[in-house]
Formats: sequence, C-alpha cells, structure tokens
Amino acid sequence: MTISTTSVGDSLSLMREKLSREQQKQGKALDRYFYQSHLVYQKELRSLVYKSWIYAAHISDVPNRGDYVLFNIGDDSIIIVRDDENDIKALMNICRHRGARICKDQRGNCTTLVCPYHCWTYNLDGSLRSARHMEMLEGFDKADYSLKSARVVVYEGLIFINCDPNAVDFLGPLSNLKEQLGAYDLEAAKVACRKTYRVDANWKFCLENYLECYHCATAHPAYAQRHTFQDLKRNVAAQVADMHKRAPRVTGVEGVENEHRKIYTDAEGFGTCVSAHRYGLYEGFLTGSEDGQPVAPLMGKMQGYDGGAGDFQLGPLSFMLNYPDHCVLYRFIPRGRNATDMDVVWFVNGDAEEGVDYDLEKLIWLWHHTTLEDKFIITQNSEGVNSHFFEPGPYHPEFEATLQQFAKWYLHTLTQAVGEG
Ligand code: FES
Ligand SMILES: [Fe+2]
Repeated sequence: MTISTTSVGDSLSLMREKLSREQQKQGKALDRYFYQSHLVYQKELRSLVYKSWIYAAHISDVPNRGDYVLFNIGDDSIIIVRDDENDIKALMNICRHRGARICKDQRGNCTTLVCPYHCWTYNLDGSLRSARHMEMLEGFDKADYSLKSARVVVYEGLIFINCDPNAVDFLGPLSNLKEQLGAYDLEAAKVACRKTYRVDANWKFCLENYLECYHCATAHPAYAQRHTFQDLKRNVAAQVADMHKRAPRVTGVEGVENEHRKIYTDAEGFGTCVSAHRYGLYEGFLTGSEDGQPVAPLMGKMQGYDGGAGDFQLGPLSFMLNYPDHCVLYRFIPRGRNATDMDVVWFVNGDAEEGVDYDLEKLIWLWHHTTLEDKFIITQNSEGVNSHFFEPGPYHPEFEATLQQFAKWYLHTLTQAVGEG
C-alpha cells in the first residue's frame, strides 16, 4: 500500500494548529497528521529522539580495545567503540572533512578510524590523528576536527547514548532499578541472539503498540496464554500479590518485586524514563517458553522461578522483559517517516553455551513469533490510520493509560519544539 504524506502546504503554522487542536482533545488517539508529516518527523528526530537516552549496545558487543559496533538511528549512524583508555565512546559516523561515512561494516575491530574517502584518520576517542596534506592549509588545527560524539552511560552492562550534549544524567534514574534489574546481572550476560524487524510504519505505531496490552488477548494467543498482563489488573490481582509475596524468597533477590515508575511526563528529566514492575505468569509457566519450562540456566543472582517476569522501561524507546532464565530487550528506532527498526536482543547467563545449556530456537520462540504478530498488526494499524476516513477513537482507560501518558509527553515536547522554531 502507498502511504500518504501531508500536502506541500504543510508548514510550522499548520503543525502548531494541529498540536493545539490535539491538546484540547482528551483521551483519543492521535490525528493521522502526526504520522504523515515530514515536518513532524524532522522535528521529532531533533527534539525528541536525539534528546532521549536510548539503548545502543551491550558491553559484550565491544569487549576489546578497538572493537566497534554501529547503531543506526534516523538518517544517522553512530560508532560505539571501546577506545585505548578502555572507555566506551559514541562517535558520529561522519567524517569532519566532507562528511563521508567512516565505518561501513556493522561491527569490527580497528586501531584507528580511517575515512575511506580522503583518508583522514581518527584515534579511537574521536580525535583527529592525521589529515593528509592538510598542513598546506594555513591555520589548520587538527584539534578543531574531532569526530562529533554522543553522551554515553553504561549501566548493568547496557550502553545507552544520548545525542544531546546537554542531556540530563541517566545514571541517577537508572539506579532506582538496582535490585529489580541487578537481579539478572546483565553485565555478565551473553547476547544469545539479536534480530531486527523492519516495519513499514511510523515509529510511533510501533512504540504505541508496545505500550499497551489491550491487543495481547487477540493478537498474541501464545503470549496471552502465559502472561497475566493481558488481563485487567483486578482479575489477576490475587495471583500477582501471591507472586510478589514469594518472589524475594524464591529468587533470592530482596526487592526484585518492587515497583518503580517514572516515565514520560513523570520522568526525572527529559528522556530518562525508567520503570520496573513484576507481573505474573499463569500457572504451569515458569518462563516465557512454549511448554512453560526453563529454556536456559537461571540468570545472575536468580535462584528460582517465582512465576513472575520483570517488565522494564529504560528510556523512552527501550524496554526489557526479564524471565528468571532469559531476558528480552526491545527498542524502537525510527529509520524514516514510515520505517522503523524493532530490534530485539535475547540475553542468557554469561556462561551458558548454545547447544549445551540452551537451544536457540526454543529460547527465541515466544518473542520471535510475538514480534512477527506485532509487525502484522502495526502494519494494519498504519494502513488504517493513513486512509482518508480515519477518525481517532477513544483510548481504553486502563489498558491504554500509558499510551495517553506518552501522547501527552509527545505533544508537549513537539509544542515546545515548534515554539523554539
Ligand atoms: S570525507 Fe573523509 S577524508 Fe574526505
Ligand atoms: Fe504486541
């Protein structure tokens, strides 16, 4: 299907008008303008995406000096590299001469970063080491041409970046998840699998879909059979309370069940959303697997199966669902106005060996299929919203409450951005 875009008459004043109309409208889904406008997309990137803390990689992606991995976001490419001082840097993959991409392979190892165009060469910390024959240019100073960089925070082995040099700190908000996330010892974990699911839809459709489980009962039969999150809170309250009561004893982690929620409008600073909550699995399921039985050795400090799973938000676009024996990380990365990468990473305990301690197919079974189901419904959603006769309907007050919170934050952020010009 061809996805429509806004007309050539799109402008900042139209965006202001749409934003003010949207903010007066309470409790209904966003107008299709926000998914179709190229202007909106550019504003979102600049004012929201590039100012948010986003999961970029795991420390095991760059274990040795000179190891790098690319993180592609929007139209940009960022080099996550371990430098000579053993620090992790996030460098813009844009040469300071005439802008060529420096690294083209998704991952690799190098002693210096060499631009393939005219051979300007950078140290691993991004400083310019040599610029061929540029001594002929009077006043040329290498110190003026380091690669641009993004902020980096490493927490529990997870590398987060923020392209805004003035971004507020993320370590403080993350430290509220010490017990809940620390239980899995992600620093020592191993990436068992990573997959990118490209969806031909605006990034907000993908994120909005993740932020609500109203669709779980209908779109995800396997998930819904296993996870109480698919039901209204009051229907599963007793079961979840029982699990919370036994969780510290069974897992051996005090506080693993504690709830913390500071996301979007309630976040401590812009783009620093964090939340943790432990929800129940239905009886007979110890983990998120086909038969409900463990698919890998217990992770980190976890000592048993409490019938729960840790649900986390780590920044506005990154999430985790952590079972006692494996963890699944999700992030939603805009790659164009109508293209999104849904990246999924499966983690197992650091010393688990494929084929011995886990079977990869069994490990990824649930979330691979669930993501394919999501890809289908998101595409359907995008097509419907993009059609001329779409009129936004009401959000569900419980199931879609987080969506409303996101919409509020989103509209507020965009309104400020438009005000800034
Ligand atoms: S663009 Fe990189 S050296 Fe010229
Ligand atoms: Fe889903």
